[in-house]
Amino acid sequence: MTERVPTKVNMEKIVSLCRRRGFIFPNSEIYGGLSSCWDYGPLGVELKHNIKQSWWRAMVQERDDMVGLDSSILMHPHVWTASGHLKGFVDPMVECKSCHLRWRGDDLSSVNCPSCGGELTEPRLFNLMFKTFMGPIEEEANIIYLRPETAQGIFVNFQNVVNTTRKRLPFGIAQIGKAFRNEITTGNFIFRSREFEQMEIEFFVKPGTDGEWFEYWLEERLNWYVKLGIKRENLKLRQHTKEELAHYAINCRDINYLFPMGWAELEGIANRGDFDLVQHANSSGKSLNYLDEETKEHIIPYIIEPSAGVDRSALAFLCDAYDEELDKDEIRVLLRLHPSLAPIKVAILPLSRREPLVKLAKQISADLRPHWMVSYDDAQSIGRRYRRQDEIGTPFCTTVDFQSLEDNQVTIRDRDSMNQIRIPISELKNTLQAKLEGEDLFVLPPGGKIWKEEKSPDSP
Ligand code: GAP
Repeated sequence: MTERVPTKVNMEKIVSLCRRRGFIFPNSEIYGGLSSCWDYGPLGVELKHNIKQSWWRAMVQERDDMVGLDSSILMHPHVWTASGHLKGFVDPMVECKSCHLRWRGDDLSSVNCPSCGGELTEPRLFNLMFKTFMGPIEEEANIIYLRPETAQGIFVNFQNVVNTTRKRLPFGIAQIGKAFRNEITTGNFIFRSREFEQMEIEFFVKPGTDGEWFEYWLEERLNWYVKLGIKRENLKLRQHTKEELAHYAINCRDINYLFPMGWAELEGIANRGDFDLVQHANSSGKSLNYLDEETKEHIIPYIIEPSAGVDRSALAFLCDAYDEELDKDEIRVLLRLHPSLAPIKVAILPLSRREPLVKLAKQISADLRPHWMVSYDDAQSIGRRYRRQDEIGTPFCTTVDFQSLEDNQVTIRDRDSMNQIRIPISELKNTLQAKLEGEDLFVLPPGGKIWKEEKSPDSP
């Protein structure tokens, strides 16, 4: 029997699990690392891919009012003048006069240096955009910027999308891509880094309907996290005050998550009004009007923007899924990841390395691989292999034993309950498919039986 132990998930446990199991590594580690840059390992890249795919499916493919885009990271420098980023995308930076560490002035709770207690300089504004040069000559005229948000690529393509897709208001353009910010202070693992990925929607609506669409998107985005397993009590909305609104926003609410270091922003949902289209129309001299076919008037749509971070989502999904429970005399660590997010969907484990078992297990892996990410593992004891799969969030393990050679059956072990069923190999693919879609483990296919009941599905 298992018993839950009070779990205090903390950042050290998450960082250590991510490193140990190959989710996330420090960047350029063999050279001592590069501050605030992270590399996603074999499991991390699958998790991130699954997050992006779940977002894309729900936000683009399953909707009739959304199209996708993949715009370039490098953009014309005038984009950043028009968007207000050159002038307004700044943080107040202070420097300690003793240890020379730099801090974001608006993040500090004391007037002295948080590291050594030294006196701080007056704040000076620091632009967060990374600069580089286009072409071989490093001169002022060739300066361009790495985009600090993916949104601008959408605004400058607004007319292209309207002309080529015939989408009518209200409709949205969605984009997933890298963004770069030369943050003054980074930290809390992948929560704030200088290179990260965003999943952004710019949803174009008729002015006057923006209020209701703003509320709609708050609800829609909250539900997306909950459907993928985040506990509702770990999410809350935070209204921005007038003073903290970004230069482009007329309203903004954050979806905050209870990260190990406290409540912090997971996603921002802003009403950007007509700021961006007006700015780009004025700056480029090109019309970004939209012809309202009902009224025959040219209007500038308002924009509701749900803007999420892939890396912050990954961190939230990992923290929320992390669990520890007492199993016999050991602590079992597991990630209760939603099956759609789990990096590996099923692990195939032969009970021994003896030839006939390995051959059958490898054949089963090969048969399942076209359908899902499958892991084949024949090293160490079966108990250790189960633990390893629990720790990386694999929803199901299929064990091939000596009896399998005779009865053509295998067991399926459920990660969360550790219950097991035994079913014919011929039913394996369809049964796994049903279980990954949420069917109860004890709903059995023809010829199947309950094999091991560790704890009832209703016990905590
Ligand atoms: N286009 C609007 C925009 O970029 P934002 O609130 O600055 O708004 C949106 O960023 C999301 O991008 C955040 O909620 C967060 O998830 C992610 N994000 C922003 N800065 C980040 C950073 N330095 N590291 C990791 N993620 C970041």
